[in-house]
Amino acid sequence: MKVLAIETSCDETAAAVIGDDGRTLLANVVESQIAAHQPYGGVVPEIAGRRHVESVRPVVERALAEASLGLDDIGGIAVTRGPGLVGSLLVGIHFAKALAWARGLPLVGVHHVEGHLLAPLLEHPDDAVFPAVALIVSGGHTSLFHAERFGRYRRLGRTLDDAAGEAFDKVARLIGLGYPGGPAVQRAAEGGDPEAFRFPRPTVDRAHLDFSFSGLKTAVLTVTRELGPEAIEARRADLAASFQAAVVDVLVAKALAALERTGAQRVILSGGVAANGPLRARFRHEAEARGFGVLIPPMRFCTDNAAMIGVAGARRLAAGQVDALDFDAESTLPMPEEVACA
Ligand code: KG4
Ligand code: ZN
Repeated sequence: MKVLAIETSCDETAAAVIGDDGRTLLANVVESQIAAHQPYGGVVPEIAGRRHVESVRPVVERALAEASLGLDDIGGIAVTRGPGLVGSLLVGIHFAKALAWARGLPLVGVHHVEGHLLAPLLEHPDDAVFPAVALIVSGGHTSLFHAERFGRYRRLGRTLDDAAGEAFDKVARLIGLGYPGGPAVQRAAEGGDPEAFRFPRPTVDRAHLDFSFSGLKTAVLTVTRELGPEAIEARRADLAASFQAAVVDVLVAKALAALERTGAQRVILSGGVAANGPLRARFRHEAEARGFGVLIPPMRFCTDNAAMIGVAGARRLAAGQVDALDFDAESTLPMPEEVACA
């Protein structure tokens, strides 16, 4: 069956259509709200929800048109159930429920992070993906999983405070860059010296696989206070490069430690922060040098999109999973069959 997927968990209104094989992408539309939130320096939940209300129908219509399909051709619907902003999630969920109800179509709610984790399936046959270690780094999540097979994700570690993307966004503000912070920091770091400031590499010790980025953020804050506005501007490239290098070091070290611990031969890097160029390059280099298979989706499938929700949803629908029309949006939600590592 062809699956229509809808994603509205944060500040992107997205719709995609997945083909009968459960993997081929027939359409992928992402409408970003960046311009609406930019004046406020971050995502304003109230604005995000209202923009989704305006955009969800045209975005779904564009996806169907891009796939040259009508609703009659769609066999099932997948929608992001959570985690995310509840007021944003509800827009996609209710639009999906209305379609499912009116058309008598099966509907499945998808975990946003499972979507990120399965994004490599858009390009690889399933059996070439699992088992794998998966590092999901986004604005809301920084988690390491042992993805044993589809639907079974053993959590190895998570952030104890800020997510990696959140750290990028906060540091961007400290050094006078706008929202979204990640791409701005990456651009500012070009030409900067990553060793100009020796920022801490929090929790790089190999004893555990949790992350912590608040100490790094505080270290940047302390330095910016000492420097003052003029020196911050003069040294912005060095500040950005040094911060970025610290984050990349931590993420790569933890992923390698997880590979060692689990014995997995493949590693997935996904989520919005996986769009970061230096992270992608270092991650691939270090893992491949040790003989691991590396799966990093193209950038457009790393940041929020509905294609990844469609791939996850198509697999669940094919397995017979259908949700009743009364399921709710969830701001937090454990991964399906998530088992915390002892
Ligand atoms: O996955 P995503 O689009 O949304 C969430 O699920 O949170 O991730 C958004 C996050 C933001 O924090 C953004 O700053 C970060 O991903 N990001 C980046 C880059 N592009 C997006 N961080 C570092 N470098 C980038 N190039
Ligand atoms: Zn995301």
